[in-house]
Amino acid sequence: RSADYAPAVVIGSGYGASVAALRLAEAGVDTLVLEMGRLWNTPGPDGKVFCSTGAPDHRSMWFRGRTEAPLATFLWLDVVNKDITPYPGVLDRVAHPDMAVYVGRGVGGGSLVNGGMAVTPPRSYLTEVLPQIDAARMYDTYFPRARAALGVNTVDPAWFESTKWYRFSRISRRHARHAGLRTVFVPSVYDFAHMEREASGQAPKSALAGEVIYGNNHGKRSLDKTYLAAALGTGRVVIATGCRARSIRREPDGSYVVTADRTDDSGRTVETREVGCARLFLGAGSLGTAELLVRARETGTLPGLDDEVGRGWGHNGNVMTARANHLWDTVGACQATMPALGIDDWANPACPVFAEVAPLPMGFEHWISLYLAITRNPERGVLRYDAAADAVRLDWRREQNQPSVSAAKSLFDRINRANVTIYRYDLFGGNRAFADDFTYHPLGGCVLGRATDDFGRVKGYPGLYVTDGSLIPGSIGVNPFLTITALAERNMERILAVDLAGGASPG
Ligand code: FDA
Repeated sequence: RSADYAPAVVIGSGYGASVAALRLAEAGVDTLVLEMGRLWNTPGPDGKVFCSTGAPDHRSMWFRGRTEAPLATFLWLDVVNKDITPYPGVLDRVAHPDMAVYVGRGVGGGSLVNGGMAVTPPRSYLTEVLPQIDAARMYDTYFPRARAALGVNTVDPAWFESTKWYRFSRISRRHARHAGLRTVFVPSVYDFAHMEREASGQAPKSALAGEVIYGNNHGKRSLDKTYLAAALGTGRVVIATGCRARSIRREPDGSYVVTADRTDDSGRTVETREVGCARLFLGAGSLGTAELLVRARETGTLPGLDDEVGRGWGHNGNVMTARANHLWDTVGACQATMPALGIDDWANPACPVFAEVAPLPMGFEHWISLYLAITRNPERGVLRYDAAADAVRLDWRREQNQPSVSAAKSLFDRINRANVTIYRYDLFGGNRAFADDFTYHPLGGCVLGRATDDFGRVKGYPGLYVTDGSLIPGSIGVNPFLTITALAERNMERILAVDLAGGASPG
């Protein structure tokens, strides 16, 4: 057991955590970041830091004996998943009884494994889900700040129209248009100029080599290359990797102590650290942050936490589905792994849907159009403490997905009717056309203005803050990381100006 102190501690290193670390450091506050995953910067024997989706190895998943890819089968055959050696790999699938949640593990959190889509939510919807925030400031200041810091760019339309790598998107666009639907280009943190060089053979291939959910070796502006690089560049940030925060308590002087286990590559705990701090920022992601706080409330280490802690969880209405195209509508053997197009039917009053046209790069022609639909789903889950297992369980029932499945079905039935096409039933297991048993977009659990004040300060605990996706009440209508980043920018600006104006100690 070792004891340390830092003026500020940040738990996690995803979007919200990275914003907190950078802005604290810029304000002169020495900051320690605790991240349970690895720093992904060392090539393996194959010369690569990450493995590809097509040939996963131990680097792919977080302590698994076999990969658990979201698309489990092809032609109903279990050909996708592979046996692997357990290791702190980059993608985790946190399985709760009726909902599996995919999350990134490592320095950069979800930015290491995600599809890079940096989408700004419709203003009317942001105002509806977070009415207390000043939307004008969000759209004038914090979204542009987040886009600039994350390195958001868009595909060159001329290249998009001509390249074989986005043929799959153009086919889906044509089919959407036949149904009278609107499509939009989706901004990305993947460097499209790099992608063009990949296509012309001038740069090593990453998005054009099937790399995405197990990490990208090139081209992706993940947080370790943006916010976290800038944070480390201040000289005031230290990132401790392989450090999993287990519990949080408050000392009589108002400071916080985090107990964290440091584990080795086999998962064995090699050290338990206690780190004291004046300010504690929780950026462990929706599930991670809610787990730490629910456990702290229920085990009595932070007994005064609000009843709202653990509530308001949602999966952003995620549903995946796939359509079978006619033989003449080829989608191409070559597909870029970074989505660049979305079907935007969010303005539909009956069932709003924003559906990204997702790639399915298998290296051969399969005539499949794949989509991740984001729907409006009013259902919410609760995170509850299971004392026997010292774990936090997500209380979410399968039937709570029904509004999402109905909305996605209504949109894709329309596309199928207009194009005389059908669904694929062979990809998600269980002979289903809609995969509603997993999410990429966990949100909520410590909702802004309920479990915290309107800037992420945890109610009843001065000096304790939430800075990640758990602040967003279960749904944001588009892919969420840009909103998580912009909201963290907004909250940090206020916290630094008000709470830390006189230094790092809670006043
Ligand atoms: P985030 O989950 O990023 O980071 C949390 C970090 O905390 C992780 O590094 C974790 O290891 C660490 N941690 C957790 N518990 C801890 C503990 N107890 N101690 C120490 N460390 C701990 N979104 C989007 O906008 N566009 C997209 O294209 C996609 N695509 C996509 C694909 C896939 C496969 C996934 C899994 C996800 C996406 N997403 C996405 C979602 C997006 O990545 C996600 O919303 C954000 O990463 C969430 O950011 P947070 O800051 O909330 O936490």
